[in-house]
Amino acid sequence: MTTVDAEVVSGLEREIEVETLSMPSTHPPRSYAAHKTGSGVTYCGSAERVLTSSIGRKLKGKVQLIFTSPPFPLNRKKKYGNLQGEAYVKWLSAFAPLFRDLLKEDGSIVMELGNAWQPGEPVMSTLALKALLAFLEEGKFHLCQQFVCYNPARLPSPAQWVNVERIRVKDAYTHVWWMAPSERPQADNRRVLKEYSPAMLKLLSSKKYNSGRRPSEHKIGSKSFFQNNNGAIPSNVLTFANTNSNDQYSNYCRRNNLRLHPARMAIGLPEFFIRFLTTPKNLVVDPFAGSNTTGAAAERLKRRWIAIEPNNEYIAGSVGRFPGQEVYSNDT
Ligand SMILES: C[S@@+](CC[C@H](N)C(=O)[O-])C[C@H]1O[C@@H](n2cnc3c(N)ncnc32)[C@H](O)[C@@H]1O
Repeated sequence: MTTVDAEVVSGLEREIEVETLSMPSTHPPRSYAAHKTGSGVTYCGSAERVLTSSIGRKLKGKVQLIFTSPPFPLNRKKKYGNLQGEAYVKWLSAFAPLFRDLLKEDGSIVMELGNAWQPGEPVMSTLALKALLAFLEEGKFHLCQQFVCYNPARLPSPAQWVNVERIRVKDAYTHVWWMAPSERPQADNRRVLKEYSPAMLKLLSSKKYNSGRRPSEHKIGSKSFFQNNNGAIPSNVLTFANTNSNDQYSNYCRRNNLRLHPARMAIGLPEFFIRFLTTPKNLVVDPFAGSNTTGAAAERLKRRWIAIEPNNEYIAGSVGRFPGQEVYSNDT
């Protein structure tokens, strides 16, 4: 079993008094380590509080990957202007310099942001895009690549426009933005190869295909496809059906009468990026961890992890993702 870097762990249980960033919150007044395994720790507290505390300071320059899906504000219509939207953009982008400080020189940030709609109108909100642009600018990050995470099992939504009036189609993907301080962060697509398709396997064994120039202007050499590279290079469209209501986590929550996290992601998503952008023992941080899907993926892949979540019930449920691991919970 791997252990969390002693330097990072020391003083983790200490009570933290720090100033918070701009977004007002109803989060616990003190942060504390609420769950721990041999490879990681979940802090109960807000990300702004934890990351500006001694914990954040100890993590500076040590994190290989920040993988997260930040909270998104309910876009309720306001009587006077869209202050809520602007406040959100300000709140999220204020994390950019904090995240940048945590990262190693060749580290990455991967952020999942869903689509949002204007309340009461069949029109999309641009808030997530504005927040992303502000975040990039504040952190002076490069946008390494945009991914789309497609969920084929997603129920039709927004229902009014899709099912009732039939004037829009099903919204079935989220945006996943990969950013980094460097143009060449650590990455290796050989760690995320997909199984070859039956057609490609046939081609590899028959060694027969048409070489030459394609209509797309690509020139296919006469031996280009002879080498078996143990799998195909994936595209930036990732598909994960988030349908598992009978998994270990859900069963644990039901058994213990804990609320299931309403916005948890498919574990395949963090697994893909952890493999692609880190190596074993690297440190992965999820500052808006929810049910700690990221920590569970990191644990499985033998990376170290730190998760931050202010809702204690979500943390209690997340423990179900780590069967047989040492657990403790205290706020003293
Ligand atoms: C979209 S959810 C993350 C879901 C997670 N990826 C999962 O698979 O369960 C965002 C989480 O951010 C938490 N959150 C809200 N404000 C926060 C803050 N200021 N600091 C840290 N976490 C926060 C919410 O409680 C929520 O659980």
